[in-house]
Amino acid sequence: MLTAFLAATLPLMTGMAKELVLEFENVEKIFPGSPPVRAVNKVFLQIQRGDFAALIGPSGSGKSTMLNLAAGLDLPTSGRVKIAGRDLQGQSQQELCRLRRQSLGFVFQSFNLFPVLTAVENAEYTCVMRGEKQSLARAKAVAALEAVGLADKLHRYPTQLSGGQQQRVAVARALATEPKFILADEPTANLDSKTAAQLIELFEDLNKKMQVTFLFSTHDHNLVSRVRRQLEMRDGELHELS
Ligand SMILES: Nc1ncnc2c1ncn2[C@@H]1O[C@H](COP(=O)(O)OP(=O)(O)OP(=O)(O)O)[C@@H](O)[C@H]1O
Ligand SMILES: [Mg+2]
Repeated sequence: MLTAFLAATLPLMTGMAKELVLEFENVEKIFPGSPPVRAVNKVFLQIQRGDFAALIGPSGSGKSTMLNLAAGLDLPTSGRVKIAGRDLQGQSQQELCRLRRQSLGFVFQSFNLFPVLTAVENAEYTCVMRGEKQSLARAKAVAALEAVGLADKLHRYPTQLSGGQQQRVAVARALATEPKFILADEPTANLDSKTAAQLIELFEDLNKKMQVTFLFSTHDHNLVSRVRRQLEMRDGELHELS
């Protein structure tokens, strides 16, 4: 009784109350088919503000599905996903969109760049959509592209960039919105080791100096060795390793 009371009140009294940015409560995602695929199996997960966490596991184990659920891009078959305490189920598409634009940066495994827009136009797109002044959106996009080492490629179209450079534009697009929480699906997958190391340092910097929360999937051992939390997916189940 006393232990439970202290556990509940001590963090509040010492100012250490957890700020949960993401919660999974008994989440399942089953893709229909014959047979159906249980891509996420009864997952409980809490990501706190300031976390720097990696989702690891073999191909097909459910990492991208987890990240899509976390971003509200997909809804669970059962269970609850909450962002900043708000249940994603029951929100309209418009509300989900607004929530994503305001609180999340998302880096997709397949980049999702607009082919008809240049690197800088892609990077500023979310800010413009959010209603920011064009000049401010442009300034943030340029700064983000500089941070990922693409200052000299601002006006190239995606087809004029290598896979790794497109990946970095996708990262810059997420950074330009100055999100408090970044979800990234294999952000270093297409990068050479030097660029990957620079990107990891940038993420660490944002995490330490700006308290940006990170949850990313990766196969990159250099990245895994730097995280504070390792979450392993195995056949849709989540196991906390550290
Ligand atoms: N839209 C879909 N419809 C049917 N099955 C799907 C769908 N998306 C994913 N799956 C299946 O769900 C499982 C998990 O896929 P997911 O993409 O989450 O894996 P992953 O861990 O990200 O793999 P990788 O490391 O290859 O990116 C796989 O068996 C996959 O085939
Ligand atoms: Mg994946």
